[in-house]
Amino acid sequence: MVKWETKYETGVTEVDEQHQSLFNYINDLEQCILDKDFEGIKMEIILNFFQMYCATHFSLEETCMMRERCPAYEENKSAHKKFLAYYKKFRVNFRQTTRKLDMLKEFHRVLIKWLANHIMKIDMKLKAGV
Ligand SMILES: [Fe+2]
Repeated sequence: MVKWETKYETGVTEVDEQHQSLFNYINDLEQCILDKDFEGIKMEIILNFFQMYCATHFSLEETCMMRERCPAYEENKSAHKKFLAYYKKFRVNFRQTTRKLDMLKEFHRVLIKWLANHIMKIDMKLKAGV
């Protein structure tokens, strides 16, 4: 399970609150994987969260970076675009596959990497003075 820590704070309250929800949903996803509960309403709610997150959270971050004239704006935007493309493909494949559990484990790994590589390295540039 992943745990929110102050080292993940960008200093933008709304962004940080949404990142905290991301942590919660990653943990919900892990719990469903452990329980092998991946065809019910819980998984549907989790997957819908990620869809909503991509749409609203990414654009919030991009707006903040643009407003602050953050040099990481383009890098962030392009990483978001890549994640969005990955997630769209994941949803289509997930509906069709008979190996749902394997796909969810892989998705979980991608999300864990996202916390370390994206939030810590790119989103963190939202912090004033970085
Ligand atoms: Fe981002």
